[in-house]
Amino acid sequence: MGIDLSGVLSTELKKNVEEYKKARSKNDIGECRDNAHACAVLCYQIAEQQPAFRDKYIANAKKWENIATGKITPSSGSHNKNSSSGPVAVKGSEKNSGNSSEIDFDASSLIETSSVTWNDIGGLDEVKRLVKETVVIAGLKKPDAIKPWKGILLFGPPGTGKTMIAAAAAGSLHATFFNVKSDRVLSKYFGESSKLISSLYETAKVKAPSIIFIDEFDALGSARGEGTSEASRKVLSSLLIELDGLQNKKSDHLLLSMAATNTPWDLDTAVLSRFPRRIFVTLPDEISCRSIIQINTVGLDTSGLDLPGLGRRCVEKLYSGRDIQNLCQQAIWNMIHDKNPRMDELADLPFNELKNRVLNTRELINSDFEESFERIHSPLNNDDLKQYNTWNDEYGERSQC
Ligand SMILES: Nc1ncnc2c1ncn2[C@@H]1O[C@H](COP(=O)(O)OP(=O)(O)OP(=O)(O)O)[C@@H](O)[C@H]1O
Ligand SMILES: [Mg+2]
Repeated sequence: MGIDLSGVLSTELKKNVEEYKKARSKNDIGECRDNAHACAVLCYQIAEQQPAFRDKYIANAKKWENIATGKITPSSGSHNKNSSSGPVAVKGSEKNSGNSSEIDFDASSLIETSSVTWNDIGGLDEVKRLVKETVVIAGLKKPDAIKPWKGILLFGPPGTGKTMIAAAAAGSLHATFFNVKSDRVLSKYFGESSKLISSLYETAKVKAPSIIFIDEFDALGSARGEGTSEASRKVLSSLLIELDGLQNKKSDHLLLSMAATNTPWDLDTAVLSRFPRRIFVTLPDEISCRSIIQINTVGLDTSGLDLPGLGRRCVEKLYSGRDIQNLCQQAIWNMIHDKNPRMDELADLPFNELKNRVLNTRELINSDFEESFERIHSPLNNDDLKQYNTWNDEYGERSQC
């Protein structure tokens, strides 16, 4: 049976509520937010311990979270008549600056549930090892001198599995996964810039363990050059501040920033220095191509396939994992059309009748892939690959053989 910590946590919560009230009376917004953050974490913990009051504590945790992330501003003038667990005396609809043109950014909207596992990723063994190692070291108890990595940069050609890796890291840890698409966030929340990043990191702390995944990082990470917008520059500076803050603070919570890019050479040096762990996500080699084919044909009979031959051709054609996924999809469709030539005629049948019928399938054969090989072309050439390799040699993670 688990130990009931709810008494200890409630005492701790009361203490933090008192601290929050003191900070509020001094009008110290920063202090208020720190205490609100602690209250939110405690409410979530008590909710876990006391199933009977779960809903009440989750609701309170959310309100505290709103204060911690600046969505609700602590007000100095009001009085607390509430319970000891709930947020007290806040002006519910007030926004930070009172500026009516401000957009209400909710970092929780970036949270995605990740069901990707390490086994869904074919090949990339070294990349998986490096990422797993980073995650594990962040979690283990360790001497103060050992500082875990706080940021990982994944770089490589399109479709090689960078997003999958970040999702698998989050999935394996049951971590909250914040998926931030740089250019979309930049255009949608134009003008909200620096607040957006601090709110994102505050929310991630409350919901730790968290992984913040910044996709298309080049849209942000090269923002200090000429010709970039003020908004991009502000977002980038706030991001650098948050990353420095994480690096300097000792914390028991896992909060890992992962960024991905197809054009690492566009990143500015200040950005690179915050991501000392830069991992090259390469095109798959022959064996990896075979395992990606197997992952994408699960449930079908592939015993007649010349997997080594198919793998070799994928490598020759410079296919990425995404190209191989498309290749398999098209090959499967070829097999389906072969076995169900008159499928379209069934469209007139009632849906319930369709559910009683079975799709005809057969084993996959090499010729199912022929047409797909003709149709799928890699966007890369050997010069592109050379550019990645050169950058990796100069700036990438040294592989530890
Ligand atoms: N190593 C792999 N194993 C299995 N599937 C893969 C692998 N790499 C890519 N894929 C397939 O390709 C798709 C695209 O992968 P993903 O989105 O992770 O690529 P990416 O590197 O993030 O691409 P981009 O640079 O365009 O964002 C995945 O949904 C998956 O189906
Ligand atoms: Mg991606």
